[in-house]
Amino acid sequence: MKIGILTSGGDCPGLNAIIRGVCKPAIQHYGMEVWGIQSGFRGLVDDNVVPLEEKVLSGLLNSAGTVLGTSRDMPFKRRFSASSEDKPSMMMKTIKKHGFDCIVCIGGNGTQDTAYQLSKLGVNVVTIPKTIDNDVEGTDVCYGFDSAVSIATDAIDRLHSTASAHQRVMVIEVMGHNAGWIALYSGMAGGGDIILIPELGYNIHNVGSKIIERLKQGKPYSIVVVAEGIKTMENKKAAQFIAEEIEYETGFETRETVLGYIQRGGIPTAYDRNLATRMGGFAAQLIEGKQYGQMVSLNGSTIMPVPLEKIAGKARLVNEDNDLIIQGKRMGICFG
Ligand code: F6P
Repeated sequence: MKIGILTSGGDCPGLNAIIRGVCKPAIQHYGMEVWGIQSGFRGLVDDNVVPLEEKVLSGLLNSAGTVLGTSRDMPFKRRFSASSEDKPSMMMKTIKKHGFDCIVCIGGNGTQDTAYQLSKLGVNVVTIPKTIDNDVEGTDVCYGFDSAVSIATDAIDRLHSTASAHQRVMVIEVMGHNAGWIALYSGMAGGGDIILIPELGYNIHNVGSKIIERLKQGKPYSIVVVAEGIKTMENKKAAQFIAEEIEYETGFETRETVLGYIQRGGIPTAYDRNLATRMGGFAAQLIEGKQYGQMVSLNGSTIMPVPLEKIAGKARLVNEDNDLIIQGKRMGICFG
């Protein structure tokens, strides 16, 4: 069997580990021939593909970055190239030219959607959910989320001491697109006092009251973790807006930190490395069994397939009955 593999969408810590997770068992255990598709779906459109030999895969587990590159290109959405050629047809041409039996697509919601469109054209695809945002429908966890949470938690830990030293309010903005997964998990792990996520909304007066309440309890500093996707006024960035509002509401000296792309770089956590091995190996197993049109999913502690048609085009957001929110509220954390 000859398979092509691509990583698409926003990167995350250690994309290389997930490439290794698919390719090592594909080559060593199943005897497949593996080709790397460069820069996501763009590589299929442009016929930019290279054979991936086993020796290239050594040392990838704990290396940062991606040997394949990535892009946010969505050939079914922006259908025509500069030369007016139809991108889906160009992808089909590349797949036929190389005789790929299956394309493994690693990425977030946009990638799941594009892979599903490809499968409707008759292409065999298997996908793996990979995004720091953790918002892919049909899986409990996406590859890269744990690493991003760990980076954000480390940043929040560091803000505690400077907040306390200066008696300030520290607002930290984390990524997540329209979902609050990173803010919730890093906010709770980092001991945030206030956590604002798009799914719950917030009232700035509640935020101010919490900060004043902490002052009265002898805690003249606070850590506020905000998801980038929360609603703000005048299109202001989440951290900037919340910091300004807090100063206005409470008179507290407030500083903001936008963590940004640091959350997407570097090496993956041990949890993500093992998830890469489990999900990647399962993807190879699905291909061997000719179970196409499926996304590899983590359901509880079990890796299993989910049909792409069930999940494509949907996002998984945080529910207010998430137990971290319930327990957080019980210990006095303000969710807005
Ligand atoms: O999807 C991952 C993500 O990092 C989001 O959290 C963020 O909103 C977005 O990508 C940033 O996109 P870009 O890489 O296009 O700047």
